[in-house]
Parts: sequence; structure tokens; C-alpha cells
Amino acid sequence: MTTTSPQHVLETSELSPALVEEYTATRPRSREAFEKARRLLPGGQTRSVTHYEPFPSLIRLGRGQMLVDLDGHEYFDALNNYTSLVHGNAFGPASDAVRALLDQGVAFASVHSEQTDLARRILDRLSSADLVRFTNSGSEASSLAARIARHVTGRREIVMAEGGFHGSVAPLLPGEPNVVLVPYNDLQALEQAVTERTAAVFLEPFQGAGGVIPGKKEYLQHAQKVANSQGALFVLDEIQSLRNNYHGVQENLGLSPDLTLIGKIIGGGFPIGAVAGRAKLLDATSPYTVGGLQHAGTFNGHLAAAAAGSATLDYLDSAAISRLNAGASELASAIEDGAAAAGIKVVVTRDGSIMNIHPHRVPENAKEAAKPYKFHRSLHLALMLEGVYAATRGMLNLSTALTDSDLREVGKLYGNAFQRIAQSPDILEDLK
Ligand SMILES: Cc1ncc(COP(=O)(O)O)c(C=O)c1O
Repeated sequence: MTTTSPQHVLETSELSPALVEEYTATRPRSREAFEKARRLLPGGQTRSVTHYEPFPSLIRLGRGQMLVDLDGHEYFDALNNYTSLVHGNAFGPASDAVRALLDQGVAFASVHSEQTDLARRILDRLSSADLVRFTNSGSEASSLAARIARHVTGRREIVMAEGGFHGSVAPLLPGEPNVVLVPYNDLQALEQAVTERTAAVFLEPFQGAGGVIPGKKEYLQHAQKVANSQGALFVLDEIQSLRNNYHGVQENLGLSPDLTLIGKIIGGGFPIGAVAGRAKLLDATSPYTVGGLQHAGTFNGHLAAAAAGSATLDYLDSAAISRLNAGASELASAIEDGAAAAGIKVVVTRDGSIMNIHPHRVPENAKEAAKPYKFHRSLHLALMLEGVYAATRGMLNLSTALTDSDLREVGKLYGNAFQRIAQSPDILEDLK
């Protein structure tokens, strides 16, 4: 199948033919369903990152650590809907909490105790925050934080990192007016970029979508100082990283951001986002603030997301987080060893339970991290054939549903996948 692909998607012809043949032969139902989807949705998708060649397998069921596709193939879920399902699929306590709400109504034009219950849990974790405001997604949280920053500072510019990702809405998109891009982990570049025109500096503690590239502690601490000394807000994006430390990774990093962006796990599998931060900033959205910001949203703080999010956080205590992080550390080593045994050099970057596999070495910059290696796409396809569901660009993350023996099995399956792709001269060429 040939498609007009976005730049980051490799054509089928660029993938290892043996993998494509086996994948296609074993997934007739997914192929047919995807063809139908293409007649209804642009490119058969409603989300950029879920596309891959030769065609995606359609998932029909998720239970705990397992996914099942339309053709009946089972996969260990090492993607967890891009880090949001920290306890795996259909997590019992979250499902029960939502079930209990269904007969009472799940969305009212009224504040509700499910929202305040979730807010209390979030504020217990984040010591830098006094108040929390809910949205429907992490992207919306980023957009709201930018609005608050611009409102309280009276300035327009947002400084963010190349390869940084704060969601798919303006103004946090590269190329948007008033967005100033700086290389990540480069203190000098940041110092030069932050001026009296800067409303806020937005940074991730590690670049998630950018390849799980760790942020240096001194860099992030200095970024906070530089922002504040110029009268700008320091906004830390913990939409991915909140799962990695009970008090957010801001605690490990010694940071006290003005605003923290959160999302993903706080919705327990349902759509949500939030801005948490200092009262004097969040109060920009308060009805008691004269001349404040209007922040409307029919589904802001949806009750299903709030109830499922509270149940999820209740089971994500420090011990659960430590187990996740230790499991990820072991799996990262197993993956590197499995690659080495197949004659392939990879490094696995990691923050807590979120990891990314890179060919050769840790990428030196955002451009290198975004390079569409044939290696990544073929590894992804090989993993699908072995029964592991991970991101097409090499990212994987754990859920508490994966047991120690599951993790050992996942490590072995990565090893098998490396053996499969090691046969392909194309990929070896790509790895030179
Ligand atoms: C660090 C980071 N910020 C923001 C977002 C956007 O969140 P959402 O997809 O809920 O809009 C994401 C999503 O992947 C993310 O990883």
C-alpha cells in the first residue's frame, strides 16, 4: 500500500519486506477495517501518532497489561495510551468509580465534589501549587497556562525548547507567532532568549515526545531563575512525568514552578488536563477577579475523568512508583543487552517508567532525535509480530499491571525483535 504520508512516516517500501509480508498476511481484518476508516477519517486516523505502515492493527480490547487486535493477536501493552494508563487497561477501581456515576449523570453545569476530590489529591502531591483548574486535555492546559502568563505579565512571547511538546494547540506550536525556540539543555541560549518581552518559559523536565531526553537539573533550576528574574513565569510540563514521582519530578529536580501542567494519568484513562499553580496566578480565572480571564469549556473537569483520576491516583503511591521505576530500569538493560546480542547498538534513555530506544547513542539535538530511522519503524513492526505494543518512534512505558515475569517476557520479545531486524541489510545500513 502506498500513501501520501506525512514526513515522519516511512513508505512501506522502506520497511523490511519480510516483516511487511508476515504482518500483512496475519492481519486481514485490521487491513479491511483500516481501508473502511480511510473512507471516513483523513488517512484513516484521528490522531497523528497512531499511524504506521503498511497499515495499523486496530485494537479492539484492552485488559490490564494486554491488548487484543481485530485479528485476535495479543500484545503486552508497553504504550499505555502514551503513558496515560499507569495501571493498564480497564483498571478496575477506575471503571467502578465511573460505573457508580453513570446513573447519576456525568456532566453538569455545576462544580462537583468529584472535581474537588481530584483537586485535593493533586494539591497534596504538588507542593508548588495552591489551586488547580481543569481542562479536557493536556493541550488545553498548555493553552490555558499561556493565556494566564500573557494576562498576568501583559507580555506575548513564550520561550520553549526545540523538540519540546506541550500539545497540539496554539500557541505552543513551533512556528506560531511569539513562540521563541531554544535548544534544550542549553543554558546560554535560554539566557539570551528570555527578555522583558517573555511571558513564560515552558519546559518539560525531560523531553517526552522528543525522545525521552533527560533535562539537566542545573539547566532546569537555572531556567526557573532566569524566567523569574526577567518577570516571566516558569511553567513546568509534568503531563508525562507526574507518574514518575509522588510529588512530581519537580521535587527530585528542586523546582518550584509558577504553573505546572498535568494531564494523562489524572484522568484514569479519560480525557483531562489541568493547570496547577500559585493562587495569585490561577486566580486570573476566578469569577471573583475583576477583569479576569474567561475560561469556558462544556466538559472541563468531566466527572468520569475526575472519578477515574482519583481512583488512579489512590493506587499510585510512592511504593507503586518505585516498583514501576525499578522495573523500567531492568527492562531498559534487558533491551540494550538484547540488541547487543543481535549485533545492534542501542541506548535506552529513561525517566522513571518512561523510556525511549535510540540507535547508536543518545541524540545530540532535537533534529537527530526526530530523524525517521528505518530502524525504529522496522523494530516497531517486528515488535508487533512478537506481541509487544510500543510507540513507532521507540518510546515505551510501563503500567503497574505488568508483573515482574511479564517484564522478563517483554525483554525477551524485544530480543527476538532485534534478531528479526538484524537480518535486514537495509536496517544495518541505516544504523551505520
Ligand atoms: C509533555 C506533554 N505535554 C502536553 C501533551 C498534550 O496532552 P494531550 O495529548 O492530553 O493534549 C502531551 C501529550 O502527549 C505531552 O506528552
